[in-house]
Amino acid sequence: MGTGLLLLLVFVAGLQVSSGTTDLTDAAVLRSLMGEWQNTPPNWGQSDDPCGTPWIGVNCSNSRVTVLKLSTMGLKGTLSGDIGQLSELQILDLSYNKELGGQLPANIGNLKKINTLILVGCNFGGEIPEELGNLGNLSFLALNSNKFTGRIPASLGTLSHLYWLDVADNQLSGPIPISNNGAPGLDQLLHTKHFHLNKNQLSGPIPEELFSSNMAPIHVLFDGNQLTGEIPSSIGLLKSLQVLRLDRNFLNGSVPSNINNLTSITDLNLANNQLSGAMPNLTGMNDLNYVDLSNNTFDPSESPAWFSQIESLTALVIQFGGLYGQVKHNQDNVK
Ligand SMILES: *[C@@H]1O[C@H](CO)[C@@H](O)[C@H](O)[C@H]1NC(C)=O
Ligand SMILES: *[C@@H]1O[C@H](CO)[C@@H](O)[C@H](O)[C@H]1NC(C)=O
Ligand SMILES: *[C@@H]1O[C@H](CO)[C@@H](O)[C@H](O)[C@H]1NC(C)=O
Ligand SMILES: *[C@@H]1O[C@H](CO)[C@@H](O)[C@H](O)[C@H]1NC(C)=O
Ligand SMILES: *[C@@H]1O[C@H](CO)[C@@H](O)[C@H](O)[C@H]1NC(C)=O
Ligand SMILES: *[C@@H]1O[C@H](CO)[C@@H](O)[C@H](O)[C@H]1NC(C)=O
Repeated sequence: MGTGLLLLLVFVAGLQVSSGTTDLTDAAVLRSLMGEWQNTPPNWGQSDDPCGTPWIGVNCSNSRVTVLKLSTMGLKGTLSGDIGQLSELQILDLSYNKELGGQLPANIGNLKKINTLILVGCNFGGEIPEELGNLGNLSFLALNSNKFTGRIPASLGTLSHLYWLDVADNQLSGPIPISNNGAPGLDQLLHTKHFHLNKNQLSGPIPEELFSSNMAPIHVLFDGNQLTGEIPSSIGLLKSLQVLRLDRNFLNGSVPSNINNLTSITDLNLANNQLSGAMPNLTGMNDLNYVDLSNNTFDPSESPAWFSQIESLTALVIQFGGLYGQVKHNQDNVK
C-alpha cells in the first residue's frame, strides 16, 4: 500500500512535469501556430510549457495564455481558426509581419476577452470577418495597412468599448455603415476616439446620422476614398475633434457653416474635393495649426479675416483656391 501511494505520487508529479503549467488546449494551439508559421521565436518549442518556461511573446495568467505579442518577427504563413480557442486571450499583436496573411478566420470572433487586436502592416486580405463584432470587450482594433477588401462590417458598430478603430490603407469599398432598423452601424461607436478609415475605396456619402453629440472623437480620418455628396452638418457636433481629414474624395456642395463649432481642431484638410460656395469661415477655431483647402471650387474671395486672426496657424494651403488680394500673416505660408 505504501508503495502504491509512492507510485501514485511519482505518477502525479510526473504528470505535472510533463504537462507543465500551461493549459493543455492553449499549449496545443501555440504548437499548431508554430507548425503553420515560419520564423517563430527561437525558444518556441524548446519547452513543452509556453507559460511555465515562457515562450517569447507569450504571457499567461493562471496557466492560460492572455497575451500573444509577435510584432516584427518576420512571421510567415496564415492565421488558422485554432486561434479562436485561446479563450482567455486579451491581447493579440501580430503587427508588421509582412508575409503573414491570408484571410482572418471567422472564429477569431470567439476571443471574447480580447481587448487589443493589432494586425497592422501584415498581408491579411479578403473580407474583415463580421464576427469581429462579437468581441464585446475590444477597445483597440488596428487592421490598417493590409489588403482587406469588401465592406466595413456593420457589426463593428456593436463594439461599445471600442476606443480605436483603424482600418486605413486597405482596399475596402462600399458605404460607411450606419445603424438602420436594428442593424448596427458606426454611428453607435459612442466611445470611439479614432475613426481611421482613410486610404480605401469607400464610396457613397458621409451619412448625416454618423455623427452625434453623444460621441467625442478626436481624429476623423476619411481622406483618400471616393466619398461623394456634401459634408454633413452633424460634423459641427464633434466639439472635441482635433484632426479632420476629408481630403482626396469627391465631396461637393458648400462646407457647413457650423464647421467653426469645432473649436478644438488643430488640423483641417478638405483639399482635393469638389467643394463650392463661400470659402469656409474658420473664425473661432483658435487652435488651428494646419489648414488645407486646396483644389476645390470655392467662390473667389478676399483674404479671409480669420486667416490673420488665428495665431496658432502655421500653414494655410489654398492652391488654386480663388483667393485674391493681399494675404497678410506673421508666418506667411500661403502658396
Ligand atoms: C509579458 O511578460 C514579460 C516578461 O515575461 C514582461 O516583460 C511583459 O511586460 C509582459 N507583457 C505583457 C503585455 O503583459
Ligand atoms: C474587459 O476588459 C476590462 C479591462 O479592459 C476587464 O477589466 C474586464 O474584465 C474585461 N471583461 C471581460 C468579459 O473580459
Ligand atoms: C454650434 O455652437 C453653438 C454655440 O456653442 C451652438 O449654439 C450651436 O447649436 C452649435 N451648432 C451645432 C450644429 O452644433
Ligand atoms: C453633389 O454630387 C451629387 C452626386 O454625388 C449630386 O447628386 C449633387 O447634386 C451634387 N451637389 C452639388 C451641390 O453639386
Ligand atoms: C465669420 O464668423 C464670425 C463669427 O461667427 C463673424 O463675426 C464674421 O462676420 C464671419 N465672417 C464672414 C466673412 O462671414
Ligand atoms: C492640387 O492639384 C494639383 C493638380 O492635380 C496637384 O498637383 C497638387 O498637388 C494639388 N495640391 C494639393 C495641395 O493637394
